[in-house]
Amino acid sequence: MGLPAGLLDAGYTRLVRPVLFRSHGGDPEAIHEQLISLLAGVGSAGPVRALTRLVAGSAGRSARVAGIDFPSRVGLAAGLDKDASAVLAWRGLGFGFAELGTVTGRAQPGNDRPRVFRLRASRALVNRMGFNNPGAAAVAATLAARNVYRGNGAAGLPVGISIGKTKVVDLADAVEDYLTSLRLLAPHADYVAVNVSSPNTPGLRSLQDAGALSGLLTTLVRESAARASLAAEGSSQGAGPRPEGWPSAGEGAGPVPVFVKVAPDLTWGQLDEVLATCEDAGAAGVIATNTTLAREGLAPADQHLAGEAGGLSGAPLTARAREVVGYVAAHTALPVMGVGGIMTADDAMALFDAGADLVQLYTGFIYGGPGLAAAVNARDTERQEP
Ligand SMILES: Cc1cc2nc3c(=O)[nH]c(=O)nc-3n(C[C@H](O)[C@H](O)[C@H](O)COP(=O)(O)O)c2cc1C
Repeated sequence: MGLPAGLLDAGYTRLVRPVLFRSHGGDPEAIHEQLISLLAGVGSAGPVRALTRLVAGSAGRSARVAGIDFPSRVGLAAGLDKDASAVLAWRGLGFGFAELGTVTGRAQPGNDRPRVFRLRASRALVNRMGFNNPGAAAVAATLAARNVYRGNGAAGLPVGISIGKTKVVDLADAVEDYLTSLRLLAPHADYVAVNVSSPNTPGLRSLQDAGALSGLLTTLVRESAARASLAAEGSSQGAGPRPEGWPSAGEGAGPVPVFVKVAPDLTWGQLDEVLATCEDAGAAGVIATNTTLAREGLAPADQHLAGEAGGLSGAPLTARAREVVGYVAAHTALPVMGVGGIMTADDAMALFDAGADLVQLYTGFIYGGPGLAAAVNARDTERQEP
């Protein structure tokens, strides 16, 4: 039995959060880095089990989506664990899956600091991180060192890996850059998320245009299928050679499902094209949404930060994300992961009601702590029971 979600919530928001938000001179990125390195230390089974007992009062409601078994329907959104170092901690904090990254083909530093801002009165963040990450090869090595391979359950939850474009790579060469990441990371991923919706890499969002998206997705889906049949051949030949990067016998069967993450700022017409392209190319599902370029819904106290470049997340995104998830669910049979402005368990239920099969948290986790994942799990389980 875990702590009741309400107690966890109060403990975090009244005791832990004020300390966290004030530490490091209030620099959100510095405290983030410290917490991730703390969580990265949570590697062994013992501490993970203890965390699980404390936090995961309700294990959540399981679901099978895109052929993957999720122990609960609430996951960690991309961007929180960019280098995958804390991969073993997320199940213990109440999550049913974790989307790591975004990872790019080459290592890169991201934008200059400061690049993330807290808009406290609005329960929001603005970020322009710009895909700071150690590159696909380093992230693959991190996951290999923790024995995290597709389908082997080593992380205690399904692992998604978000891939994006290296900044210095021309848009014209983007497909090759994404392919590099896919090849290196697919052995460690239960699904791959193709990020074409971050506002912080120049030109990236133009990869949502039908022509560009079609080329990118078709190539990635084809590569994923080719690798799966190579792996199957390898295993049917017993100890036959495996393609490089497939050292584990535990990888799941079949191609790695490829999800596509979209921006909340698309028009319905653009979204129609994205969905048609996803279906035609054989994508496994849609993740809606990334951060927004809009600045609506900010509290007066945060107006001075409205001009900071970057993507806005958190409470101001709640309504738009719900609208987009509803639209996507109504216009495609593909599975949908809903993300954007989930600040309470009710917000998560509203995204499920709008048609999401799974949901993800980022900003709500920063403001609400692990109690939010626990509360979503509890409500989701409760609603399932008659
Ligand atoms: C600081 C920060 C970094 C992020 N980095 C990424 C990223 O690397 N890749 C990605 O797909 N989304 C990234 N996101 C977007 C989140 O995954 C999520 O889609 C968005 O924040 C909306 O959800 P939220 O309102 O719950 O935060 C980032 C968000 C924040 C706040």
